[in-house]
Amino acid sequence: MKLNIKDQVEQYEGMILPLYEDGLATKVLSLPLDELQGSKKFEGKIGTTYKLTAVVESSLKEIVLLGLGKKNELNLRKLLNGFADAYRLMKKQKTEKVVLHIDNLENQELLAKIATEAVLMADYSFDLKTKEKEEKEVELDLVTSVDMAIINEAYVLAESNLIARELVNQPANLMYPETLAEKVLELGEEKGFEVEIFELEAIEAMEMEAFLSVGKASDRDPRFIVMRYKGNPDSEDVLGYVGKGLTYDSGGLSIKPTSGMVTMKCDMGGSSAVIGAMCAIADMKLKTNVTAVVAACENMISGNSYRPGDIIGSMGGKSIFIGNTDAEGRLTLIDAMHYIVTRENVNKVLDIATLTGAAIYCTGDAASAAISNDDDFFKAVNDSFDKSGEQIWRMPIFDEYKELIKHEEADLTNTAGNPGTITAGLFIGEFTGDLPWTHIDIAGTAFSKKEKGILSKGGTGAAVRPLYYLAKNEEV
Ligand code: BES
Ligand code: MN
Ligand code: ZN
Repeated sequence: MKLNIKDQVEQYEGMILPLYEDGLATKVLSLPLDELQGSKKFEGKIGTTYKLTAVVESSLKEIVLLGLGKKNELNLRKLLNGFADAYRLMKKQKTEKVVLHIDNLENQELLAKIATEAVLMADYSFDLKTKEKEEKEVELDLVTSVDMAIINEAYVLAESNLIARELVNQPANLMYPETLAEKVLELGEEKGFEVEIFELEAIEAMEMEAFLSVGKASDRDPRFIVMRYKGNPDSEDVLGYVGKGLTYDSGGLSIKPTSGMVTMKCDMGGSSAVIGAMCAIADMKLKTNVTAVVAACENMISGNSYRPGDIIGSMGGKSIFIGNTDAEGRLTLIDAMHYIVTRENVNKVLDIATLTGAAIYCTGDAASAAISNDDDFFKAVNDSFDKSGEQIWRMPIFDEYKELIKHEEADLTNTAGNPGTITAGLFIGEFTGDLPWTHIDIAGTAFSKKEKGILSKGGTGAAVRPLYYLAKNEEV
């Protein structure tokens, strides 16, 4: 899709026309809106759509009405999905020249931002089919008079979200630690952040035994990826992001059933979230400092696999009992966490991961699950999710849970049992020093089984936009 910003309506085949529920009215087209309202077919309720074909100046036009709800009860999440649904409905009509008209509407700045993000995200899909796409590219004229800075930010956010989706969607035979590292180098160059890649020997030299154990059965070598963005050289403060980067998770010797394995290219959702966020942060030239790290590897099976029953070390020095080789994410994350806390001078840290199936039982695909040791930091995280229309839910840390990650023969165990999402997070929390810390489990939100609202099938780019807003909140 090609998005143009226009200050008036030009020639078009289809028009998306958003309308508020309180007094359906528009001067853009002459429509019998009272009749519609009376018929209950379309009342402007938030997120609802209604398609009609109209004759305008002797030519047929496809019209999609989009309900915005009440003027003073805006709901970002519903509006994003509403604009996405309206765009998809229009795309189905095979119209190539579409107008999305938001000029003269109240709350226009917010609507312009939401509309831009929504249509760009809804337009994305992934496949590696060899046949050329038949569809012609849609040209969409967004009619609005808002400042271009608003549109630009929305554009960057959508693009960064789609970068993350694409990283996840590329299958594991194509996207593995080495190719992921190459991709991050390219993105760093393009967007303006520094990238440092540690290869196998360098990772061994740092004694990241937990991370190395997970990756060692794979024929593909691991990569440790560090991204640094310095937008405020006058400040010592650095926000730290750690993303889980399992380019594939077979479960290892504790092998997954095929049904659970077939979508496990998604297990780098955390890394793609932090990579996407770094792209947006650098692109928008935020005046703040952020460092992100990814311990990228593949959890595979060979004569060299780590085993259930092993006791391994870690960069931070603690010994770990392996109860299950499928609880691998936390092992890669603790070495990444220890590294960022001890070597990158961060003063707050957030880790994000497709970590536990249990998170899907907690909050499903409606929200990411979180724990945190710091109320102020979590509030900032929560506000950042609110700004993006994504949802997050903080779970409790009771003293009883802290006992569960201990082991008789080692300092810690990687299989602490229920509540699985919280104990997995607490395991990582052992390596955060005393820093303010938030852990986000996106196992339920990083991958979508179907196209829905702004989401495409597959990778969702979950948390990219929230992690951008969190960094923006740190700006001076
Ligand atoms: N990558 C999985 C978690 C996951 C499951 C992500 C489903 C997305 C969808 C993780 O590595 C894993 O296998 N976790 C295990 C841990 C258990 C063995 C303690 C799980 O949740 O079953
Ligand atoms: Mn696993
Ligand atoms: Zn995993």
